[in-house]
Amino acid sequence: MEEELKARVQLSKHMFAFAETISLRCAVQLGLPDKIYEHGPLTLAELATKLPIKSINMDRFEQTMRYLVHMNLFTVATTDHDDHHGSTNYEEAKYELTPMSRLLISNNHNKKSLATFVMAQTDPEELFVSGRLVESLGGTKSCWELQYGVPVFEKMENDEKWSKVSDGMNGYTLSMIDAVVDGIKREGLIDQSISTLVDVGGNTGVAAKAILNAFPHLKCTVMDLLDVVENVPKDPQLNFVAGDVLSSIPTGDVLFFKSMFHGFEDDLSVKILSNCKKAMHPTKGRLIVVEMVLDIETMPEFSHARLGLAMQMMFIGGQERTKKGWERLIHKAGFTRYKIVPIAAAESIIVIYP
Ligand SMILES: C[S@@+](CC[C@H](N)C(=O)[O-])C[C@H]1O[C@@H](n2cnc3c(N)ncnc32)[C@H](O)[C@@H]1O
Repeated sequence: MEEELKARVQLSKHMFAFAETISLRCAVQLGLPDKIYEHGPLTLAELATKLPIKSINMDRFEQTMRYLVHMNLFTVATTDHDDHHGSTNYEEAKYELTPMSRLLISNNHNKKSLATFVMAQTDPEELFVSGRLVESLGGTKSCWELQYGVPVFEKMENDEKWSKVSDGMNGYTLSMIDAVVDGIKREGLIDQSISTLVDVGGNTGVAAKAILNAFPHLKCTVMDLLDVVENVPKDPQLNFVAGDVLSSIPTGDVLFFKSMFHGFEDDLSVKILSNCKKAMHPTKGRLIVVEMVLDIETMPEFSHARLGLAMQMMFIGGQERTKKGWERLIHKAGFTRYKIVPIAAAESIIVIYP
């Protein structure tokens, strides 16, 4: 019986997991972390006066805040008015930030903010489209392609949503790039013999910039699709080049890829790796790939995020890989030497040698 009870508890947790995603989005949409950061701890009534909406139903707002406290996004400072049973009087309580909501203070105050990333990741259209998972299991098309007939990036091209996804990705990359740089240093993947690096699919070049700051002797090129390169703000220390990774890649000692291969299934990824062969230095060259390795043993606290992202890639198109999956792909492309380097992030570094 105890086992059945436990199972019921677990099942209800999964059934209501959507409430976490939606409430998290609501907290960011309302800018709650910013309000508390700017004004200090606030009561429900004080917080309500600072919302970007015209009117508010206080009962509903209180319920939402209760859930956000349950999620540990905020804490409530207890007051003398708390009742004798230890439950909080929500009318008097002041809401405060937690380490988690501090990550969501917008980038006016916090360069490494994850607020835009959360907004991109919790997009209701994407959640809706993921309802086609069962159908997508029957073939090779992602839920997105089944819904719209085109890959996600094609649908979002010229869409203001795309620039939000791109902003979100920048914030996410900034939040974890120090772990990548630490891994590169720890493994000695870049030294004085390496003089050029190409950040392939580098978007605004935030990753390339962080690597350049750590290794100032490098010459860094950022390559991305033409419409991306035309529109990103240019950093004068980086050389921006437009191109398609499926056609050719600029030459460099290090070819750096972050969150690129997971957007391409194996056949296209093999093509990209073949283009890398032509572009990398034949002896000292190397690929530094930053991606998830689903079954890596390190930082198991990220397993949920790794497996969740793997599901998301099935929804929108692309694929995350296990250790075996990476090995298969690397061998298929004719490479033999590679190493997986764990870092303090959900991702790992996969180094591939010529
Ligand atoms: C998920 S984002 C990753 C951006 C960046 N590497 C990061 O981690 O912050 C994927 C990037 O790959 C670029 N991309 C997609 N297809 C590409 C292609 N065929 N050739 C070059 N870049 C491409 C996209 O424009 C986008 O900037």
